[in-house]
Amino acid sequence: MKFIICENPAELGEIVSELILDQIRYNPSSKLCIPTGSTPIPAYQHLVQKVKALDFDISHVHFYNLDEYLGLPRDHEQSYQTFLSQQVLDPLEIKASHRHLLRSDNPNPQEECIRNNKEIDEIKCFDLFMDGIGENGHIAFNEPATYFEARTHIADISESTRIANARFFSSLDEVPKQAISVGFEDIMKSKMIILVATGAKKAPVIKKLISETNITCDFPISFLRMHNNVTIVLDKLACGSCLDQLT
Ligand code: GLP
Repeated sequence: MKFIICENPAELGEIVSELILDQIRYNPSSKLCIPTGSTPIPAYQHLVQKVKALDFDISHVHFYNLDEYLGLPRDHEQSYQTFLSQQVLDPLEIKASHRHLLRSDNPNPQEECIRNNKEIDEIKCFDLFMDGIGENGHIAFNEPATYFEARTHIADISESTRIANARFFSSLDEVPKQAISVGFEDIMKSKMIILVATGAKKAPVIKKLISETNITCDFPISFLRMHNNVTIVLDKLACGSCLDQLT
Protein backbone atom coordinates (compact mmCIF):
# COMPACT_ATOMS: atom_id res chain seq x y z
CA MET A 1 0.00 0.00 0.00
CA LYS A 2 1.30 3.40 -0.94
CA PHE A 3 0.43 6.40 1.25
CA ILE A 4 0.24 10.04 0.15
CA ILE A 5 -0.03 12.52 3.01
CA CYS A 6 -1.60 15.92 2.37
CA GLU A 7 -1.67 19.06 4.45
CA ASN A 8 -5.49 19.34 4.38
CA PRO A 9 -8.63 18.26 2.46
CA ALA A 10 -8.08 20.94 -0.21
CA GLU A 11 -4.63 19.57 -1.04
CA LEU A 12 -6.04 16.04 -1.00
CA GLY A 13 -8.65 17.15 -3.52
CA GLU A 14 -5.94 18.59 -5.76
CA ILE A 15 -3.82 15.42 -5.63
CA VAL A 16 -6.66 12.94 -6.05
CA SER A 17 -8.11 14.85 -9.00
CA GLU A 18 -4.67 14.64 -10.66
CA LEU A 19 -4.54 10.88 -10.03
CA ILE A 20 -7.96 10.52 -11.70
CA LEU A 21 -6.87 12.67 -14.65
CA ASP A 22 -3.65 10.64 -14.99
CA GLN A 23 -5.76 7.50 -15.26
CA ILE A 24 -7.91 9.11 -17.97
CA ARG A 25 -4.81 10.35 -19.82
CA TYR A 26 -3.44 6.80 -19.70
CA ASN A 27 -6.73 5.29 -20.87
CA PRO A 28 -9.31 7.76 -22.27
CA SER A 29 -11.97 5.01 -22.13
CA SER A 30 -11.36 4.30 -18.44
CA LYS A 31 -14.03 2.61 -16.38
CA LEU A 32 -14.15 4.47 -13.08
CA CYS A 33 -16.00 3.24 -10.00
CA ILE A 34 -16.37 6.27 -7.76
CA PRO A 35 -17.72 6.93 -4.27
CA THR A 36 -20.02 9.24 -2.41
CA GLY A 37 -19.37 10.57 1.09
CA SER A 38 -17.96 13.91 2.17
CA THR A 39 -14.27 13.05 1.70
CA PRO A 40 -14.15 12.94 -2.12
CA ILE A 41 -16.01 16.23 -2.60
CA PRO A 42 -12.85 18.43 -2.90
CA ALA A 43 -11.42 15.95 -5.43
CA TYR A 44 -14.59 16.13 -7.51
CA GLN A 45 -14.57 19.93 -7.37
CA HIS A 46 -10.96 20.05 -8.60
CA LEU A 47 -11.70 17.43 -11.25
CA VAL A 48 -14.61 19.43 -12.67
CA GLN A 49 -12.56 22.67 -12.64
CA LYS A 50 -9.58 21.06 -14.36
CA VAL A 51 -11.60 19.23 -17.00
CA LYS A 52 -13.28 22.52 -17.89
CA ALA A 53 -10.10 24.65 -17.70
CA LEU A 54 -8.08 22.20 -19.82
CA ASP A 55 -11.02 21.43 -22.13
CA PHE A 56 -10.13 17.83 -21.32
CA ASP A 57 -11.94 15.19 -23.37
CA ILE A 58 -13.71 12.99 -20.84
CA SER A 59 -16.43 11.83 -23.22
CA HIS A 60 -15.15 8.23 -23.48
CA VAL A 61 -14.94 7.61 -19.73
CA HIS A 62 -17.57 5.37 -18.12
CA PHE A 63 -18.66 5.98 -14.52
CA TYR A 64 -20.00 3.38 -12.07
CA ASN A 65 -21.09 3.79 -8.48
CA LEU A 66 -19.93 1.36 -5.87
CA ASP A 67 -22.95 1.41 -3.61
CA GLU A 68 -26.43 2.84 -3.20
CA TYR A 69 -28.98 3.05 -0.43
CA LEU A 70 -31.98 0.78 -0.87
CA GLY A 71 -35.51 2.07 -0.72
CA LEU A 72 -34.94 5.76 -1.48
CA PRO A 73 -36.49 7.31 -4.58
CA ARG A 74 -33.72 7.69 -7.17
CA ASP A 75 -34.09 11.48 -7.08
CA HIS A 76 -34.01 11.62 -3.23
CA GLU A 77 -31.51 14.27 -2.18
CA GLN A 78 -29.47 11.63 -0.29
CA SER A 79 -29.49 8.91 -2.93
CA TYR A 80 -26.00 8.23 -4.20
CA GLN A 81 -27.29 8.73 -7.73
CA THR A 82 -28.27 12.30 -6.80
CA PHE A 83 -24.90 12.89 -5.13
CA LEU A 84 -22.84 11.65 -8.06
CA SER A 85 -25.02 13.42 -10.59
CA GLN A 86 -24.68 16.74 -8.77
CA GLN A 87 -20.99 16.46 -7.88
CA VAL A 88 -19.55 14.80 -10.98
CA LEU A 89 -21.76 13.57 -13.78
CA ASP A 90 -23.88 16.63 -14.51
CA PRO A 91 -21.04 19.18 -14.24
CA LEU A 92 -18.92 16.99 -16.55
CA GLU A 93 -21.89 16.53 -18.89
CA ILE A 94 -21.49 12.75 -18.92
CA LYS A 95 -23.93 11.19 -21.34
CA ALA A 96 -26.57 8.78 -20.02
CA SER A 97 -25.02 5.74 -21.73
CA HIS A 98 -21.79 6.33 -19.74
CA ARG A 99 -23.54 6.52 -16.34
CA HIS A 100 -23.80 3.07 -14.81
CA LEU A 101 -25.65 3.73 -11.58
CA LEU A 102 -27.33 1.39 -9.15
CA ARG A 103 -31.05 1.95 -8.86
CA SER A 104 -32.17 2.55 -5.29
CA ASP A 105 -35.84 2.12 -6.16
CA ASN A 106 -35.78 -1.16 -8.07
CA PRO A 107 -38.68 -3.06 -6.44
CA ASN A 108 -36.62 -6.21 -6.95
CA PRO A 109 -33.20 -5.43 -5.40
CA GLN A 110 -31.89 -8.94 -6.13
CA GLU A 111 -32.55 -8.31 -9.82
CA GLU A 112 -30.68 -5.00 -9.49
CA CYS A 113 -27.64 -6.87 -8.13
CA ILE A 114 -27.73 -9.28 -11.07
CA ARG A 115 -28.10 -6.38 -13.51
CA ASN A 116 -25.10 -4.61 -11.99
CA ASN A 117 -22.98 -7.76 -12.10
CA LYS A 118 -23.79 -8.12 -15.79
CA GLU A 119 -22.64 -4.53 -16.37
CA ILE A 120 -19.37 -5.28 -14.58
CA ASP A 121 -18.95 -8.56 -16.50
CA GLU A 122 -19.18 -6.62 -19.76
CA ILE A 123 -16.11 -4.57 -18.85
CA LYS A 124 -14.38 -7.41 -16.91
CA CYS A 125 -13.01 -5.01 -14.26
CA PHE A 126 -12.80 -1.38 -13.19
CA ASP A 127 -9.67 0.52 -14.22
CA LEU A 128 -9.97 2.57 -11.07
CA PHE A 129 -11.91 1.86 -7.88
CA MET A 130 -11.96 4.82 -5.54
CA ASP A 131 -13.58 4.96 -2.12
CA GLY A 132 -13.63 6.64 1.23
CA ILE A 133 -12.96 4.63 4.37
CA GLY A 134 -15.67 3.84 6.89
CA GLU A 135 -14.82 4.53 10.52
CA ASN A 136 -15.20 0.77 11.13
CA GLY A 137 -13.07 -0.11 8.10
CA HIS A 138 -15.95 -0.71 5.71
CA ILE A 139 -15.35 -0.44 1.98
CA ALA A 140 -18.40 0.49 -0.11
CA PHE A 141 -21.08 -1.15 2.09
CA ASN A 142 -19.00 -4.24 2.85
CA GLU A 143 -19.37 -3.95 6.60
CA PRO A 144 -17.46 -5.97 9.22
CA ALA A 145 -19.00 -9.44 9.00
CA THR A 146 -18.33 -13.13 9.38
CA TYR A 147 -18.04 -13.56 5.60
CA PHE A 148 -18.18 -11.40 2.48
CA GLU A 149 -20.38 -11.66 -0.56
CA ALA A 150 -18.11 -11.81 -3.60
CA ARG A 151 -20.23 -9.72 -5.93
CA THR A 152 -22.92 -7.04 -5.93
CA HIS A 153 -25.29 -7.81 -3.09
CA ILE A 154 -27.87 -6.48 -0.69
CA ALA A 155 -26.01 -5.30 2.38
CA ASP A 156 -27.25 -4.59 5.89
CA ILE A 157 -25.82 -1.25 6.99
CA SER A 158 -24.30 -1.49 10.45
CA GLU A 159 -25.72 0.68 13.20
CA SER A 160 -22.40 2.52 13.58
CA THR A 161 -22.38 3.38 9.86
CA ARG A 162 -26.01 4.50 9.99
CA ILE A 163 -25.09 6.77 12.91
CA ALA A 164 -22.04 8.11 11.01
CA ASN A 165 -24.19 8.78 7.92
CA ALA A 166 -27.11 10.28 9.89
CA ARG A 167 -25.51 13.72 9.52
CA PHE A 168 -26.81 13.78 5.95
CA PHE A 169 -30.43 13.09 7.01
CA SER A 170 -32.76 14.94 9.36
CA SER A 171 -32.85 11.99 11.76
CA LEU A 172 -31.30 8.55 12.28
CA ASP A 173 -34.67 6.96 11.54
CA GLU A 174 -34.46 8.22 7.97
CA VAL A 175 -31.12 6.51 7.26
CA PRO A 176 -31.81 3.36 5.23
CA LYS A 177 -30.99 0.05 6.89
CA GLN A 178 -29.94 -1.66 3.67
CA ALA A 179 -27.94 -0.84 0.59
CA ILE A 180 -26.71 -2.43 -2.61
CA SER A 181 -22.93 -2.74 -2.70
CA VAL A 182 -20.32 -4.10 -5.03
CA GLY A 183 -18.51 -7.04 -3.51
CA PHE A 184 -14.86 -7.73 -2.77
CA GLU A 185 -14.31 -9.87 -5.86
CA ASP A 186 -14.92 -6.88 -8.12
CA ILE A 187 -13.07 -4.48 -5.84
CA MET A 188 -10.00 -6.73 -5.83
CA LYS A 189 -10.12 -7.20 -9.61
CA SER A 190 -9.84 -3.42 -10.11
CA LYS A 191 -6.57 -2.44 -11.73
CA MET A 192 -6.00 0.44 -9.34
CA ILE A 193 -7.55 1.34 -5.98
CA ILE A 194 -7.48 4.81 -4.44
CA LEU A 195 -8.78 5.32 -0.90
CA VAL A 196 -9.27 8.74 0.66
CA ALA A 197 -9.70 9.78 4.29
CA THR A 198 -9.64 13.12 6.06
CA GLY A 199 -10.22 14.32 9.60
CA ALA A 200 -9.44 13.06 13.07
CA LYS A 201 -12.43 10.69 13.13
CA LYS A 202 -10.58 8.48 10.61
CA ALA A 203 -7.34 8.38 12.63
CA PRO A 204 -8.28 5.21 14.61
CA VAL A 205 -9.09 3.19 11.47
CA ILE A 206 -5.86 4.36 9.81
CA LYS A 207 -3.89 3.42 12.92
CA LYS A 208 -5.45 -0.05 12.92
CA LEU A 209 -4.70 -0.46 9.20
CA ILE A 210 -1.06 0.44 9.72
CA SER A 211 -0.39 -1.34 12.99
CA GLU A 212 -2.07 -4.69 12.25
CA THR A 213 -1.12 -7.09 9.48
CA ASN A 214 -3.89 -9.69 9.50
CA ILE A 215 -6.62 -10.00 6.88
CA THR A 216 -10.04 -10.45 8.38
CA CYS A 217 -13.72 -9.91 7.58
CA ASP A 218 -13.96 -8.05 10.91
CA PHE A 219 -11.93 -5.29 9.31
CA PRO A 220 -12.91 -5.14 5.63
CA ILE A 221 -10.22 -2.68 4.51
CA SER A 222 -7.61 -5.26 5.58
CA PHE A 223 -8.42 -7.26 2.41
CA LEU A 224 -6.83 -4.51 0.35
CA ARG A 225 -3.46 -5.62 1.77
CA MET A 226 -3.67 -8.37 -0.87
CA HIS A 227 -4.02 -5.92 -3.78
CA ASN A 228 -0.85 -4.76 -5.53
CA ASN A 229 -1.93 -1.26 -6.58
CA VAL A 230 -3.52 0.57 -3.67
CA THR A 231 -2.89 4.26 -2.97
CA ILE A 232 -4.26 5.72 0.25
CA VAL A 233 -4.47 9.50 0.30
CA LEU A 234 -4.83 11.04 3.76
CA ASP A 235 -4.75 14.46 5.32
CA LYS A 236 -2.63 15.02 8.41
CA LEU A 237 -5.59 14.77 10.80
CA ALA A 238 -6.51 11.32 9.48
CA CYS A 239 -2.92 10.19 10.10
CA GLY A 240 -3.33 11.00 13.82
CA SER A 241 -0.55 9.47 15.90
CA CYS A 242 0.81 7.67 12.79
CA LEU A 243 1.85 10.92 11.12
CA ASP A 244 5.59 10.48 11.83
CA GLN A 245 5.49 6.89 10.62
CA LEU A 246 3.79 7.92 7.36
CA THR A 247 5.88 10.96 6.46
C1 GLP B 1 -20.45 5.65 3.13
C2 GLP B 1 -20.13 4.92 1.85
C3 GLP B 1 -18.68 4.51 1.77
C4 GLP B 1 -17.77 5.66 2.16
C5 GLP B 1 -18.11 6.16 3.53
C6 GLP B 1 -17.20 7.27 4.00
O1 GLP B 1 -20.71 4.78 4.18
N1 GLP B 1 -20.93 3.76 1.66
O2 GLP B 1 -18.42 4.07 0.46
O3 GLP B 1 -16.44 5.23 2.15
O4 GLP B 1 -19.45 6.59 3.50
O5 GLP B 1 -17.84 8.51 3.96
P1 GLP B 1 -17.16 9.86 4.31
O6 GLP B 1 -16.22 10.18 3.19
O7 GLP B 1 -18.27 10.88 4.38
O8 GLP B 1 -16.46 9.71 5.60
